[in-house]
Amino acid sequence: MKIAVIQGPNLNMLGVREQHIYGGMTLDQIHAQLKATADQSGIELEFFQSNLEGEIVDKIQECLGTVHGIIINPAAYTHTSIAIRDALAAVNLPTVEVHISNLYKREDFRQKSLTAASSTGIISGFGPFGYHLGLIALMQVLNEIRTYQEEQSQGQEQE
Ligand code: DQA
Repeated sequence: MKIAVIQGPNLNMLGVREQHIYGGMTLDQIHAQLKATADQSGIELEFFQSNLEGEIVDKIQECLGTVHGIIINPAAYTHTSIAIRDALAAVNLPTVEVHISNLYKREDFRQKSLTAASSTGIISGFGPFGYHLGLIALMQVLNEIRTYQEEQSQGQEQE
């Protein structure tokens, strides 16, 4: 099982940027911890970060047929990007949108996610631990899909 972890603009600045909001961990540290958790469950993670909207769209499109699910923090593009929302809808993969901060405790313009409607669910406000929660949620969704598909194929064999 393979999952893409896609990080949007300015998340490469974690550990430096607005530590009172995002904490002191760097993106590499977050990814290392996440990889350790994924390894224990035999899941392969592919990490990607870009500050460019089009590169994120390209990466989401590449996910089709190459990964089973997506964990994405579109960062500021959450609030502006119809292109990322459409790309997620196009590939239609199980997807968890993660936000380090609680969007609903922040400025009005952050309280609307354009991208969330294309996700299976969202996690917001648990700091970097939100990525772990996202991984657990995605593993659960992928297991449910696998169980359903196995039941369907067993049913067809019996017909
Ligand atoms: C963020 C929240 C966004 O509003 C902001 O633009 C970010 C990070 C978060 O993880 O809390 O860059 O997505």
